[in-house]
Amino acid sequence: MQETSPFDPERRSVMRRLGTALLGLLGALEIAPALAYLFDPLRRVDRAAAGAGAVPVPVAALSDVPDVDQGGQPLQAVVIARDRRDAWNRLSRVREGSVWLYRRSRDLVCLSTVCPHAGCAIDFDEGHQRFVCPCHGSTFALDGTRRDGPSPRGMDTLEVEVTDGQVMCQYRRFRLAVSRKEPV
Ligand code: FES
Repeated sequence: MQETSPFDPERRSVMRRLGTALLGLLGALEIAPALAYLFDPLRRVDRAAAGAGAVPVPVAALSDVPDVDQGGQPLQAVVIARDRRDAWNRLSRVREGSVWLYRRSRDLVCLSTVCPHAGCAIDFDEGHQRFVCPCHGSTFALDGTRRDGPSPRGMDTLEVEVTDGQVMCQYRRFRLAVSRKEPV
């Protein structure tokens, strides 16, 4: 019967591979907690994003919102996020965008200033009582419906509520260049 020498090349190769695999396993076990710690913020942001809609933020005092039936003009209000977190940073008072606000009869109207065509900021044309996008000329009626130009849909309406005299807006962005209003 032939004996296997400890110096047999085949045997040494098997031992080397086993040793490498064992070291790899030990290394993986050692760095797993470090990786979990490093990427935990990402997992927490994902969980938060999965359960979160747009958080209402105050955009104006109700008493400052003009009534267009009384001759007022829509008010452009800046939307400031209370707190914005990404995986590793926490930012306060980040400017999210802006909205057009007005009252009419008993309604409170809030329209995004983001043009659904390519995202330019929509202005208000007092002379013609309509909204106009300066980039490619889309025009919109006072209620935001599309009148003219390349915008594929009307201006995006946003949910608002009034709390303690403050208009609270659920600000969000919508997909551009599509005819349906789809949150992004
Ligand atoms: Fe407004 Fe093009 S971005 S019309």
